[in-house]
Amino acid sequence: MSQEDTLVEAPESVRNDRFVEVNYDDAIPNNVDLSSDRQLLRALESWHPNYIDWWKDMGPDGFQNAEVYLRTAVGVDPAGWAKFGYVKMPDYRWGILLAPKVEGRTIPCGRHKGEPVWQEVPGEYRSLLRRLIVVQGDTEPASVEQQRYLGATAPSLYDMRNLFQVNVEEGRHLWAMVYLLVKYFGKDGREEAQALLERRSGQTDNPRILGAFNERTPDWLSFFMFTYFTDRDGKMQLAALAESGFDPLSRSCRFMLTEEAHHLFVGETGVGRTIEATCAAMNKAGITDPYDVERIRALGVVDLPLLQRKANFHMSVTRDLFGSEISSNAAESFSSGLKGRFNEAKLTGDDHELQDATYDVTRVVNGQLVVEPVPALRAINCRLLDDYIADCQGGIDRWNKTIEKAGINFKITQPHKGFHRKIGEFAGHHISPAGELLSAEAFAAQQGGWLPNDSDMDFINSLMKAHHAPGEYASWIAPPRMGINQQPVDYEYVKID
Ligand SMILES: [Fe+2]
Ligand SMILES: [Fe+2]
Repeated sequence: MSQEDTLVEAPESVRNDRFVEVNYDDAIPNNVDLSSDRQLLRALESWHPNYIDWWKDMGPDGFQNAEVYLRTAVGVDPAGWAKFGYVKMPDYRWGILLAPKVEGRTIPCGRHKGEPVWQEVPGEYRSLLRRLIVVQGDTEPASVEQQRYLGATAPSLYDMRNLFQVNVEEGRHLWAMVYLLVKYFGKDGREEAQALLERRSGQTDNPRILGAFNERTPDWLSFFMFTYFTDRDGKMQLAALAESGFDPLSRSCRFMLTEEAHHLFVGETGVGRTIEATCAAMNKAGITDPYDVERIRALGVVDLPLLQRKANFHMSVTRDLFGSEISSNAAESFSSGLKGRFNEAKLTGDDHELQDATYDVTRVVNGQLVVEPVPALRAINCRLLDDYIADCQGGIDRWNKTIEKAGINFKITQPHKGFHRKIGEFAGHHISPAGELLSAEAFAAQQGGWLPNDSDMDFINSLMKAHHAPGEYASWIAPPRMGINQQPVDYEYVKID
């Protein structure tokens, strides 16, 4: 029996509390004692069929009946929180799981620093808190929508399975935020939960809230770049919300971070395996010049300069997700104790209130890039962005190791923070990847060398062909070193019906 049957189609006569409780718990793994909160149960019951409709409408296109080898979160014990098995995605058991309560936890930052964390919504911050949860929640279904057509051109069943794993977990992250909304925000929360199913990525009249989540993810290279760079924004935001003084949000986000690690792995290894295939093909053909693009593309692999341009695009649109570097909203989220900095509780060297501290922000003043000390409270977003940029570097270094080992003279780099930005200090300016301020004309003239151009996209599209037989991998991506959950790399990760 699917979740939907249990929840929606149980006849009225047998829908006594006990029946619903037991079956509901069966269908939705949870550690929040769902069965004892009847109001919450009812709210989730009425949301659930709409969620399933959304999933069938906007989730992975064409594979809803496929049996996918997925992990499902069944607990929060780090040693064994998930189980693996074949499941049809609409029957996936989207659970509600919070990380364990930390006894004696106190608010780590802001004007309430040191007070016990809140177990209920602090009245004076209600709308600010609701907004934080809604914005986070909105990104989760958005990425599923962005990625919905990728199954058809999967470079292998292993990669297809990873895509679907990321998708169902983003669905679970939506559940995690919806749980908070319906449990703690009454009628407004229920309305917000419904609206999360109604906005659509890229739609003009009712788009997703944040810009990068309205961009298309049209091909697998975009998917890997997205999971490396944009899911990492997710990691940073979740980490900052895990520091929240509102404990249920903190506990939700702490558990979501466990899943996020796999999404980042998919991105890092996806790009890494692409680089591996390129380097191997170049070596085999005796090509040493990474800019010998025509010959490299003729080998059916992605040239490294194109990978750099793709990376530039995804880095720049993701950096915009951090919002304006200088922001009074971010200051208020911090001072109220609703959202901390990255690793807030572990940070040493300041008082966690930041009344008198400053933070260096790069800005454009009189046609020059200058670094200015700004009150640290107002520069919270800038700091999280800087932490994000530092966090991006590890995987990039590992990609560069692969290139170096192959004896090819090329390095993937991060563009200047101000490159191709639409939000914040650099919006409206034209800054090259190297960090020079340019005129609009000069930027436009060189843009094709910095961001994917039409011929790049045509070439990528030409590579996007289905590889749906077990053990088959597209020419442009190396097989992984290991399979999922100790399975071989030629395992039938998706049984396509
Ligand atoms: Fe997520
Ligand atoms: Fe994610």
